[in-house]
Amino acid sequence: MNNRWNRIIYKLWVPLYDRFFNSGAFAQARVTVLSGLDLRPDQRVLLVGAGTGADLPLISGYGLSITATDLSPEMLAEARSKVMQGERITFLEMDAQNLDFEDEAFDVVIANLILSVVPDPVRCMQEIIRVTGEDGKIVIFDKFAANGRLSLIMKALRPLASVLGTDIGRDFNLLFLPHQERLHITEERPLLMRGMYRKIVLRKAKERLTP
Ligand SMILES: C[S@@+](CC[C@H](N)C(=O)[O-])C[C@H]1O[C@@H](n2cnc3c(N)ncnc32)[C@H](O)[C@@H]1O
Repeated sequence: MNNRWNRIIYKLWVPLYDRFFNSGAFAQARVTVLSGLDLRPDQRVLLVGAGTGADLPLISGYGLSITATDLSPEMLAEARSKVMQGERITFLEMDAQNLDFEDEAFDVVIANLILSVVPDPVRCMQEIIRVTGEDGKIVIFDKFAANGRLSLIMKALRPLASVLGTDIGRDFNLLFLPHQERLHITEERPLLMRGMYRKIVLRKAKERLTP
């Protein structure tokens, strides 16, 4: 997977995307993912790889200061069309592996269906953690291979999925374990396809002071 192909494939996905990933069970899963987050007015929220903005209506009305980024200008244009009246949303074209923000710039970072899409998820996770403030939340809705293992069918489907713009074989442990001193899992639950799609909420603890 690479950014050049992602730009092409996600441009093609724009007219179809919401029909597949923002309806039925997916739309219901999004409600679960974005509920119970204790969102408060003026919190700085980042949507990494915001796509068509499927999550935007679910976080509107809280008085948040929202920044939505994506590699694809066409996706961002679609997301703009979902802005509710009175919402403060900044849209920026940006690589999720190289976020152009100060350290700890956000209170809440929402990373839905992006860690399985970027070419380098380790780098993307590092960036997500870097821009999250102390005590901040990282919300993830994505598909991960259980214990990093794939069934034969999934192994066979993996190359096709990759052409369509996603990796169905990523291991969340490889992204989380290097940061476990700093990150606490506050919620984890299976959502779709026998738990392949999961909701994971992480809290970034305060930096431990060295004596
Ligand atoms: C599967 S969609 C997820 C969109 C949205 N977060 C959602 O939950 O529906 C993946 C998105 O990641 C974007 N993308 C792909 N590679 C990216 C990168 N390197 N940096 C930022 N966004 C990227 C695509 O343009 C697409 O909008």
